[in-house]
Amino acid sequence: MIKPDAVEANNIGPILAMMTEAGFKIVALKYTKLSAEQAGKFYAVHSERPFYGELVEFMSRGPIVAAILEKDNAVEDFRKLIGATNPAQAEEGTIRKRFAKSIGENAVHGSDSDENAQIEGDFFFSQLERF
Ligand code: CMP
Repeated sequence: MIKPDAVEANNIGPILAMMTEAGFKIVALKYTKLSAEQAGKFYAVHSERPFYGELVEFMSRGPIVAAILEKDNAVEDFRKLIGATNPAQAEEGTIRKRFAKSIGENAVHGSDSDENAQIEGDFFFSQLERF
């Protein structure tokens, strides 16, 4: 997912380019906006964290780009490409190093397991929207 901060900063294009240049195939793509309820559901796993309210507010404040990406070893390779959650710790050449502003507003989200990639892909896309 490309988050509201990166959309607001007009960085959809360069972020998608970094993904495709790194060898990820776009299987599904959507420009949409989450309601607070939908953002809360997407991040339900973090509902007990102190930053949950802030996260839900941020993720529902403007449009996002959702994508299903395909590649061998996709979860691990994508997490390497996006960099550490906290952009201050993200390596040079990562998406978050280049585009993220803070640990909360960190430009992109990537699934942390194949299982969660399946769940998160199903959250945004029907089978008819995947190619
Ligand atoms: P993401 O990889 O999408 O997964 C959970 C999100 O919660 C994370 O990126 C950040 O946007 C947010 N997050 C994680 N830690 C913090 C924190 N300490 N303060 C605020 N937001 C956070």
